[in-house]
Amino acid sequence: MLKTISLLGILSSLLLGVDGYEVYKKNCASCHIEIMKKSEMMKKFSTLKAPPMIQVALRLKENIIIKNEDEDVHRHLFMLFVKDYIVNPNIDYIMCHPQAVETFGIMKSVDGLSEEERRAVAYWVYDRYEDVDFE
Ligand code: HEC
Repeated sequence: MLKTISLLGILSSLLLGVDGYEVYKKNCASCHIEIMKKSEMMKKFSTLKAPPMIQVALRLKENIIIKNEDEDVHRHLFMLFVKDYIVNPNIDYIMCHPQAVETFGIMKSVDGLSEEERRAVAYWVYDRYEDVDFE
């Protein structure tokens, strides 16, 4: 019986893959608040440790431009950038606002995540804020 249960657990995690939101909650949420309004951010600015994730996501989406506007390609490039940034944050290729870096400093590398977890959280960041405004 126990064997069946653990086998089922392994099977379902294989089928469902890694949940990006869970990865976010464990590894990113302590610094990046998931969602807030711009006015709220201004009020709480001094208490924040990093830009809210909604702002990060929208800023990166705006900055990554591809000529043929293919959504899948755009999402893929976004994922590659974020997946790499998690382990290799670097002042030389930041896309967020220079003022954010001045205020918060450069992000520290997040250790201990597998490639799959980094990919899942990066896709989650992209998909979470589809059709969401930051204003
Ligand atoms: C200890 C705090 C902290 C944690 C934890 C953290 N970040 Fe950050 N992150 C920052 C700060 C500060 C910035 C703004 C400065 C910068 O861009 O490096 C930032 C910026 C970013 C950026 C924008 C990069 C750019 O081009 O400027 C992305 C994307 C990002 N974080 C993703 C993540 C993800 C995904 C996680 C979780 C796996 C995570 N962060 C965890 C502090 C954190």
